[in-house]
Amino acid sequence: TPRSPQTPAEIPTVDTFAFAFDIDGVLIRGGAPIPEAIEAMKVLNGENEYGLKIPYIFLTNGGGKTEAERCIDLSRQLDIEVAPAQFICGHTPMREMVEKHETVLVIGGEGEKCREVAEGYGFKDVVTPGDLIKDNPHTTPFRRLTEDEFTCSKKRDFSKTKIDAVFVFADSRDWASDIQIMLDLAMSKGGYMGTLSETFDEGPPIYFSHNDIVWSAAHDNVRIGMGALRKMVEMLFKDVTKGKELETIAFGKPQIGTFEFATRLLQQWRKDEHRINAPPETVYFVGDTPESDVQGTNRFNEKAKNDWYSILVETGVYQAGTEPAHKPRITVSNVLEAVKHGMKREF
Ligand code: G3P
Ligand code: MG
Repeated sequence: TPRSPQTPAEIPTVDTFAFAFDIDGVLIRGGAPIPEAIEAMKVLNGENEYGLKIPYIFLTNGGGKTEAERCIDLSRQLDIEVAPAQFICGHTPMREMVEKHETVLVIGGEGEKCREVAEGYGFKDVVTPGDLIKDNPHTTPFRRLTEDEFTCSKKRDFSKTKIDAVFVFADSRDWASDIQIMLDLAMSKGGYMGTLSETFDEGPPIYFSHNDIVWSAAHDNVRIGMGALRKMVEMLFKDVTKGKELETIAFGKPQIGTFEFATRLLQQWRKDEHRINAPPETVYFVGDTPESDVQGTNRFNEKAKNDWYSILVETGVYQAGTEPAHKPRITVSNVLEAVKHGMKREF
């Protein structure tokens, strides 16, 4: 059986508990590691007073690259080896939708990255906003495709193409154009660009890979995120249709489905990597966003067979000294303290 460098054979592994980590605001901010994160990973990998390894997975709402690429980034940032088999991002569970929708519009991220991700998941026919603009430049009056975008975009006649679903995989790089296109489809006759429904209730479903209004990046203060875009789309739909409601669907944390997905991934990871077959008694979830991380963990804990224990840190969205919208089991200053807290409870 192959072993990754993070689990040398000679170090025994704890089988009764595990950790799950949020990324932005807990381990990383704006591409750079939060200082305590590197030490926290070392502790989990056996550099602790008990000489034991502790299994862990990552569960981020972020996205925009393949899981494999994200793991390469994270490995470099945290100075460990992170495997895709221990990693879930906002759009990972969307791969379970490939049989449901034939032609899908994928929004967000850099260049062609999200098209690659969607095709990698097995979506059969993936369209991007660039394809739509190439076919009809009047779609977005103030956006002209760059030469690169024009080359990558695929020409086709969209009057004959039914778009079955819209997936927002990562943050939009051009809100005005992407909102325009989402509204066009939401108001269309059954997903045909350029048409206008009389009832405004026959557009394709719109899925967002998460619903974080704000997130923690390099700036001192939180930055608006995909949940803000979702709000704009729903709000504007109501305006432009004179009162119709648009219901979009969010994946990611705090959705229960995401935590169920994480449970399956953790079980598989513990089995393949650590040869542990029984589920852990406790999973410590370390996050910085009360609405996503704490709410999701607490809600999932009510139905999960094991104990999902929410830990809130003060290095990201949540600000020390304020009242969190969802109460964690404990608040600690940073991820290293979170790891120490879990270990102290266990030993
Ligand atoms: O866009 C990513 C952000 O909203 C949250 O990422 O790692 O904090 O779940 P994370
Ligand atoms: Mg976070």
